[in-house]
Amino acid sequence: MKTPGIAASEITDEGVFMNRRNLLRLGVGAAIGAAIGGCPAAEEAGAKDDSGSADSGLRPLTDVEPARARHRADDEISRYRDATEYNNFYEFGTGKRDPAHNAHSLKPEPWSIVVDGEAGKPGRVALEEILKPTRLEERIYRFRCVEAWSMVVPWIGLPLADVLKRFEPTSKARYVSFETLVDREQMPGQRRRVIDWPYREGLRMDEAMHPLSILAVGMYGRVLPNQNGAPIRLIVPWKYGFKSIKSIVRIHFSESQPNTSWNDLAADEYGFYANVNPEVDHPRWSQARERRLGDFRKRPTLPFNGYADEVATLYSKLNLRRFF
Ligand code: MTE
Repeated sequence: MKTPGIAASEITDEGVFMNRRNLLRLGVGAAIGAAIGGCPAAEEAGAKDDSGSADSGLRPLTDVEPARARHRADDEISRYRDATEYNNFYEFGTGKRDPAHNAHSLKPEPWSIVVDGEAGKPGRVALEEILKPTRLEERIYRFRCVEAWSMVVPWIGLPLADVLKRFEPTSKARYVSFETLVDREQMPGQRRRVIDWPYREGLRMDEAMHPLSILAVGMYGRVLPNQNGAPIRLIVPWKYGFKSIKSIVRIHFSESQPNTSWNDLAADEYGFYANVNPEVDHPRWSQARERRLGDFRKRPTLPFNGYADEVATLYSKLNLRRFF
């Protein structure tokens, strides 16, 4: 990605191959739910990776519905340490290893989200209230960063639609946008104005209400590590990773298309839609192929990140070269 002072080398994933175990400093926190319960994907990933989630000290999430067949990517799940030590979270620095190193200062508990704009029931809601009515589910999704690296992660969360409906968006609500926490003490990267904080992202309402869109509160059977967006983040698997905003504190319904961070910074490089599309190159690199974290060879990138059957109809009226 491109912001002042960021070296081009940061768009490569060279760090994946380094031993970063000593840098692992997971933030402990986020009391979300309690109790017990199996998580097949987490066990699977832990078994092949000795630095797996079981060692993280993070709270296990329980009573989680295992991923249904259609929510279970066929690809091999990425190693826990790749998914948690190679991150983009500019609030903690612009280097790939900065978030794992610095995010211990984030306090994901207590947490609440303000909901406003075109909603019949706006207000401030505690995270526990958001999670209470719906059983958490596992979703094993491919995740493709605009920088051409990718991973497969067993997220745990709840459908975004279930949450949004509770605030009764009005008939004028055509878009929904999200904001990350602003707090220079907890997020030292915000002392530099690499982004006009807060980090902002948004979706069209039909995208937000699509069953594949989730709010994630965990991964690999446990609550989210701070560097992955604790305590609650968006996951939209058919879009480039920058849409999947972390550590959300505000949800806003609007009639007009919202401003979003990367689109504001470089509209010619990062579109509002940001659907994964191997046919539309980034101005500075090809999007035809991607490197899965942990792999040496690149693999072809799939249209809509492999979710075209489910989501392509959302864009039947859109020129995807123009609205990229
Ligand atoms: N959310 C916030 N608040 N700040 C960020 O810098 N980076 C985005 C997205 N969400 C980012 C963010 C980008 S560019 C990517 S690729 C993903 O988070 C990375 O998610 P991960 O670190 O869990 O792999």
